[in-house]
Amino acid sequence: TPLLKERSNLVLVGMSGGGKSTIGKRAAEKLGKGFVDTDELIIERIKMPIAEFFAKEGEPAFREIETKVIHEVSAQNNLVIATGGGIIKNPLNVEYLKRNGRLIWLKRDADLLQTGNGRPLAPDQAAAQKLYHERLPLYSAAAEAIAENNGTLEEGLSAVLHSYE
Ligand code: S3P
Repeated sequence: TPLLKERSNLVLVGMSGGGKSTIGKRAAEKLGKGFVDTDELIIERIKMPIAEFFAKEGEPAFREIETKVIHEVSAQNNLVIATGGGIIKNPLNVEYLKRNGRLIWLKRDADLLQTGNGRPLAPDQAAAQKLYHERLPLYSAAAEAIAENNGTLEEGLSAVLHSYE
């Protein structure tokens, strides 16, 4: 078995629509790590789109499942983990993820965030900007490094890789 770096997971946190999944996949290829997206794991479990689950069951039910999924992936090693934008609302999630991973904030300016497209809490720019400002202090407290993603995909990717060195 290859030698694993301590806390071998690279965890991307940050706002919805900021590029965590796209850049996370690419980072995993570059680093030879596995890739998981916690939203995808949640969708497998709830068997419906996230927006539909929010409408039917509400946000607290979603957050409960999210925390279970995060607990499970945090027990694994050598992964790049793309997380949902809201994970920093629960300090337990941050604690779990840090056990085996380094938390990198993929930071994209509010006016560049993707909105809509099945994002129940960020249907449009106004909603995304409001969330962004509420959550800035939470990302900033949780993250161990910041990777700016305000340019191209390649620039965002190299910022992530540098912050993980
Ligand atoms: C959320 C972000 C979404 C998803 C859910 C809630 C949030 O993930 O987990 O809609 O609270 O910001 P992405 O960041 O992948 O869009």
